Amino acid sequence: MRKRQLGPCVTFFPQPTTIVTSLNSAGQVNLMTASWAGIVSKTPPTMAISLNKGRQTYANILASKEFVVNMVPASLAVEADYCGIRSGRNEDKLTTAGLNLEPAQELQVPLLAESPLNLECRLSQEIEIGDYRLLLGEILQVHAVESAFAEEDQIDTRSFDPLVYLGGIREYWDLGQRRGLAYTDGKRLISREEG
Ligand SMILES: Cc1cc2nc3c(=O)[nH]c(=O)nc-3n(C[C@H](O)[C@H](O)[C@H](O)COP(=O)(O)O)c2cc1C
Repeated sequence: MRKRQLGPCVTFFPQPTTIVTSLNSAGQVNLMTASWAGIVSKTPPTMAISLNKGRQTYANILASKEFVVNMVPASLAVEADYCGIRSGRNEDKLTTAGLNLEPAQELQVPLLAESPLNLECRLSQEIEIGDYRLLLGEILQVHAVESAFAEEDQIDTRSFDPLVYLGGIREYWDLGQRRGLAYTDGKRLISREEG
């Protein structure tokens, strides 16, 4: 495979598109789009988000020690993009985006109602990376859309329909087709080697 060197940059994909909800000291909710987000530990269940230290969301989380990571469905690409190009310091993004909230179970910070998967997180650690702050949050509760569980033994991913972000080339995609089963398909190579 011939390769082109891009130099030290942040081109990497796919990434999730999430909207992080947080509360300011006056109790106002802010929405911020974050794609540098992911699960980083199972024990304890931990979510990491990386925020520029200038974000209103960073100030909110630092003060309240709480945040919610909301999966963005593909149908909300425009709203998510808007929440990623304007700061809550200057405007009420919730109202402009026409989105709704619902109460969390463990936190004061609310969930984004239109999101099919919400993770309630309590700030557990902060790591400085230049202008960015890697925030680790212990996952206290996960809310998953009920319609995904219509079939007894399977979660139907179409109910989530997550918006995928292609970092570096700045595009949104949807999930596409299932191409395999994790922790299963790779076993074909093991038996081939042993057989
Ligand atoms: C698709 C997308 C992903 C983004 N991901 C991040 C991210 O992971 N971390 C970050 O600090 N900013 C990220 N941003 C930029 C912030 O969302 C943006 O600066 C926002 O205005 C900050 O809002 P706030 O000041 O209300 O917190 C992203 C923007 C877009 C459009």
